[in-house]
Amino acid sequence: MTGMRVLAIETSCDDTCAAVVEGNRILSSVISSQRIHERYGGVVPEVASRHHLELILPVIEDALDRAGLSLDEIEALAVTAGPGLIGALLVGLSAAKAIAAPRRLPLIPTDHLHGHVAANFLEPDPLEPPFLCLVASGGHTMLAAVRDHGGFEILGETLDDAAGEAIDKGARMLGLGFPGGPALQQLAVEGDPDAFEFPVAMSRDPGLDFSFSGLKTALVYICRDLGEEGVLERKADLAAGYQAAIVGQLVAKLTRALALEDWPAVALGGGVAANLPLRAAVTRLCEEKGVRLKLVPISLCTDNAAMIAAAASHTEPIPWPGYLDFDAFSSGGRTSAGAT
Ligand code: KG4
Ligand code: ZN
Repeated sequence: MTGMRVLAIETSCDDTCAAVVEGNRILSSVISSQRIHERYGGVVPEVASRHHLELILPVIEDALDRAGLSLDEIEALAVTAGPGLIGALLVGLSAAKAIAAPRRLPLIPTDHLHGHVAANFLEPDPLEPPFLCLVASGGHTMLAAVRDHGGFEILGETLDDAAGEAIDKGARMLGLGFPGGPALQQLAVEGDPDAFEFPVAMSRDPGLDFSFSGLKTALVYICRDLGEEGVLERKADLAAGYQAAIVGQLVAKLTRALALEDWPAVALGGGVAANLPLRAAVTRLCEEKGVRLKLVPISLCTDNAAMIAAAASHTEPIPWPGYLDFDAFSSGGRTSAGAT
């Protein structure tokens, strides 16, 4: 499958994305973030779907323009089939079908999480399996064993909130905007991470699963005890402590996974992988263990369509017209290349 010129579409949450990718080379990648959700303090599914509808065609046209290609030069369509917001996914899937069907092009329904893993297959400096991949985003947190290009095995995942979700909820309690990750990171620079005690979640759990809801509850209680003014005064310390606790758990589980099995390389994916203290801590860990660390550019950590094309180029395409009744899935179900 490698080498095909693929137009990929990703609309699983609040970013409308299209990319043209050939093999592991990105010819263009366009991401239109729906800033409208900032005013609601979170993604509103119905609003996201309606904005995808408005943005999808201009974003696709922009991706083709930037690649210097017309639709006639595209060999296959790749699209995120799930998991994600069902209405949002259906906009991308319908657009992909509508472009592919009249041209009798094959369609490759792709798993969003396989996409985050596959971002590492792309240039520059593509990473070959096997590797251990920590994916932490607003919707998912998992440790994935990537043994070949075609899928991954989940070694551990969150039992409640995703890491990014916990970050966003904490940031909201501190009066920061949405999404809260970058603002929390910035504020934390001025704070003392040890000023408040946050529980080290899952530290006694021998497995590789994550849990962030206890941390969030701890922050609620600390804020309640401090009162409104106290929170304002100690905002930076709270941000530093809360961020350190989340990063601490992610790194603790990664350390445990490296102790359980030999891995030649570690990779990060998802929006939380943009977090500088996390990147620094994982860099130190990998140096200590003598393991190669692959850090994709931040534009490939957060949601994008190039990663969907990367996963699709290792997934069996569905020839026309077999995909016309193919459906999106919000969770649970998987495309053939998804988690095992
Ligand atoms: O992968 P992504 O763009 O979308 C999802 O699939 O969810 O991840 C978004 C998440 C948000 O929770 C956001 O707050 C978090 O990634 N994030 C960060 C940073 N940049 C984005 N978290 C911590 N530090 C950052 N610098
Ligand atoms: Zn994502």
